[in-house]
Amino acid sequence: MNPSRNKISLPRFLASAAAGRRLAMVTAYDHMWAGIMDEAGVDSILVGDSLSMVVQGRSSTLPVTLDEMIYHGEMVVRAVQRALVVVDMPFMSYQVSTTEAVRNAGRIIKETGADAIKLEGGSIQAETIRAIMQADIPVMAHVGMRPQAVRQLGSMGKVQRDEQQLLADATAAEEAGAFAIVLELVPADIASRITAALSIPTIGIGAGPGCSGQVLVGPDMLGLTPDFKPKFLKHFAELRKSAVSAVQQYVAEVSEGQFPGPEHSHT
Ligand code: KIV
Repeated sequence: MNPSRNKISLPRFLASAAAGRRLAMVTAYDHMWAGIMDEAGVDSILVGDSLSMVVQGRSSTLPVTLDEMIYHGEMVVRAVQRALVVVDMPFMSYQVSTTEAVRNAGRIIKETGADAIKLEGGSIQAETIRAIMQADIPVMAHVGMRPQAVRQLGSMGKVQRDEQQLLADATAAEEAGAFAIVLELVPADIASRITAALSIPTIGIGAGPGCSGQVLVGPDMLGLTPDFKPKFLKHFAELRKSAVSAVQQYVAEVSEGQFPGPEHSHT
């Protein structure tokens, strides 16, 4: 980790939320993009297990391994001066037993230098969240749509509407010691009521404006994955289009002998 006086520690992250500042979180998976996100001033960077789909081109988040999460997490942490870095625990790294979960969470923190881990689940993971917290590892929980449960829940884009279950999950995670909770694909009115009922921040994705903060997948918000355009997503740039047209120009200039010109050549 690059220590910096500007670093957003966990207490500072929580103090910002308590002061009513809306938190901006984004995913990044490597040194270059983490540096860009950090320079842009996000409060937190998530090394999401979405890297399985976005970086590795898989069809779900299930295949990514703990070693791969650590490999990417370490690159991200080395780039970041300021943002709070959270690394996802991948599928089957915390479900088998609490002992294994604590050991794997410990590996993530020791080998990447990240500030916290995230895992999916509320009530069903309460015991695991408590055990990891007792090892002094901060835990962000994730309720609502849980991509790791795609086999159980069916389609990944399914909005979760059972308010009582969502509130019970969020409350169980808070009581177990989670410092924040991602609410994914939760109707906006339910997300607002859950946020009001909790004393820890909620970070929404597809959960409306009433959460304490928002998280988006970095390549999605930058228009690098243009075929993925769910209702909740806004493209803040169209980087794939710009990149394709830049490389097309390069191809044309090389084939026409315009590049490299004299200004790019040593004499
Ligand atoms: O893996 C991920 O990118 C996530 C976000 C969608 C919150 O968990």
